[in-house]
Amino acid sequence: PHEDKIRKLLGRMTVEEKLGQLQQLTWNGDTGPGGGQNEEVERAARSGRIGSVLNLHGAAHTNALQRLAVEKSRLGIPLLFGLDVIHGFWTTFPIPLAQAASFDPAVAVRDAEVASVEARSNGVQWTFAPMMDVTHEPRWGRIAEGSGEDPHLAERFAAAKVTGHQGRADGTDLARADRIAACAKHFVAYGGAEGGRDYNTVDVSEARLRNLYLPPFKAAVDAGVATVMASFNTINGVPAHGNPHTLTDVLKRAWDFPGFVVSDYTGVQEMITHGFAADTADAARLALTAGVDMEMVGTTIRDHGAKLLAAGDISQQRLDDAVTRILRVKFQLGLFDNPYVDEGAAVTAPTPAARKAAREVGSRCLVLLKNERKTLPLRRDTASIAVVGPFGDSPDLHGTWAGPGGKKFRATTVLDGIRKAAPTARVSHAQGVPPEGGDTTGIKAATAAARAADVTVVVVGEPSAISGEASSRSQLGLPGAQAELIAAIAKVGKPFAVVVVGGRPLTMGDWLASAPAVVMAWHPGIEGGNAIADVLFGTVNPGGKLPASFPRAVGQIPIHYNHENTGRPYRADEKYTSKYLDLPPGPQFPFGHGLSYTTFEITPPRLGADRIGADALRAGDTVEVTTTVRNTGDRAGDEVVQLYVHDPVASITQPVRRLRGFRRVSLDPGQSHTVRFSLGADDLGFWTNDSAGRFVVEPGTIEVYVGGDSTARDKAVLRVT
Ligand code: IFM
Repeated sequence: PHEDKIRKLLGRMTVEEKLGQLQQLTWNGDTGPGGGQNEEVERAARSGRIGSVLNLHGAAHTNALQRLAVEKSRLGIPLLFGLDVIHGFWTTFPIPLAQAASFDPAVAVRDAEVASVEARSNGVQWTFAPMMDVTHEPRWGRIAEGSGEDPHLAERFAAAKVTGHQGRADGTDLARADRIAACAKHFVAYGGAEGGRDYNTVDVSEARLRNLYLPPFKAAVDAGVATVMASFNTINGVPAHGNPHTLTDVLKRAWDFPGFVVSDYTGVQEMITHGFAADTADAARLALTAGVDMEMVGTTIRDHGAKLLAAGDISQQRLDDAVTRILRVKFQLGLFDNPYVDEGAAVTAPTPAARKAAREVGSRCLVLLKNERKTLPLRRDTASIAVVGPFGDSPDLHGTWAGPGGKKFRATTVLDGIRKAAPTARVSHAQGVPPEGGDTTGIKAATAAARAADVTVVVVGEPSAISGEASSRSQLGLPGAQAELIAAIAKVGKPFAVVVVGGRPLTMGDWLASAPAVVMAWHPGIEGGNAIADVLFGTVNPGGKLPASFPRAVGQIPIHYNHENTGRPYRADEKYTSKYLDLPPGPQFPFGHGLSYTTFEITPPRLGADRIGADALRAGDTVEVTTTVRNTGDRAGDEVVQLYVHDPVASITQPVRRLRGFRRVSLDPGQSHTVRFSLGADDLGFWTNDSAGRFVVEPGTIEVYVGGDSTARDKAVLRVT
């Protein structure tokens, strides 16, 4: 229905107005127009030379600027306001990596729904989320923003998040006051940065590009994602911003993506520094021709577009296509009918319902890594509890890219949460050591507190500021003297549990052996302290699982469950096998690992109920894989049943395991449940190295594993004919 209107509008636009739509400029400061700080943006709005504004929010502020565009510019085309609403606007949910640890995509829907209401009511109609960069690099700070090391997990969370923000896949919900446009980022293979150093080179085979990095983007496009953001990296020598193969051949042609591609900030002009574009005009030509539609902050396309067009260096058709794509999203968002927001209806703080959702999601994301001698859960009637460590009473739980709420609203601390959960306990607190730096003078007070208490909770980790963009680390241990603090608490000889906050898998080193219980809490968001207390006291039985392997040491990286076999896999009794001489094989904790306060049994997989026999599958058919999971302990709890496949003989060597399904199941003590997965030929095939894109399902056998983590041994064998 919008296409006619778009065509008509396009017919009335000058080249300058078209180029204007392709431009996004950033807003400085927290006030609306008129402050003198943003004259260029205001002038551009009045003259129809800007399509979108970054980083302005607030109903009155956005309305005021929107008025300039709608009422003063010649064609009155409304502005699109974009902001990084990554895991919450006012109400910070756990970081996306933590959400992936829930193995429950419904948590991402919930986060996105709450965030969309808050953002849209404050004039923001577009978020730069979800981030779906699969990565095998915990050194890379941006691992915090994605779903970890597995493409299937990332697909499921990408689709969930898009649906939570946008609603129906056909875009018909986008005009609603509780929806915003999403952006699938960063396209593509950003997570492949060499050495985990942000923005670094990516050299990747076509097969790996298609099997590892592209699937979540395809899932997002299938879920109707309105926009896509190009990534800062090169892909086999060609910057993603100037890459016609990924942006046009794959995204726009093969996948038929109807939305628009935005640059990542100054990514277009950065092609000069990459050594790919000669100057800003060349960068503009390369980016637009490759498939970038809107430029963020950089102005190369706006500045050079008219000259490039006149010289025939960019085509009229490509320019019109870019404008059409941007206008299409604006029409879908209903901005032409309703460019303003109701200032009286703006949500100005987290509501109790939003906080409740953040708390429930928060506890669902926690992963119990270790729990000896039933150290956890803590008893509510414990007489005295010491809370020590730099994150014991720290509100630094929002995590990276926390949105406006991260600055404005304090997160509940673990100390707050424990005091509320155990109101009769004597709860003492000592920081012990700072989050970073070597000052150990506080350790004495912390050990004294631990000695005087029945049990100690040590809350350690990495600050939000050293996780996220441009926050790659070469060491993944606890910063500063935190490991020393744990060692000192262990020496006290009383029960204690360690809670780790952070944005990535961390290495644990020697302190792990001395700690009876360890909970990975990630950066759990505004309700983090309460969510952690819910798990510590067993109000919530932890059921999260690791979305990325935790290495024993940095030198093992990359270490991920979905690796290929060498010709000489590890064997303890054979020197000439693939290993590090100074480390045991395998990670500290594998992908999919996570304990519970109860225990589960999962039966070996059964194949059946397919159309051509119990153990054979033809392309196009599906086979049902069933397994029964039983709660064998004495508490209600959740288990995540995981389905993996392995193709032992293929024309391109295959990962030793590939996750193809998972289900988080809640069970009472003694209760069992049969989980059914449907495995289609599409789940078993793979993309080849053919640059035109060839997906093959090869005849042969497939091993099908089910279990509670990626080391699952129980298998059934399927024949593909
Ligand atoms: O959305 C982000 C992106 O992930 C990193 N560069 C800046 C963009 C806008 O803030």
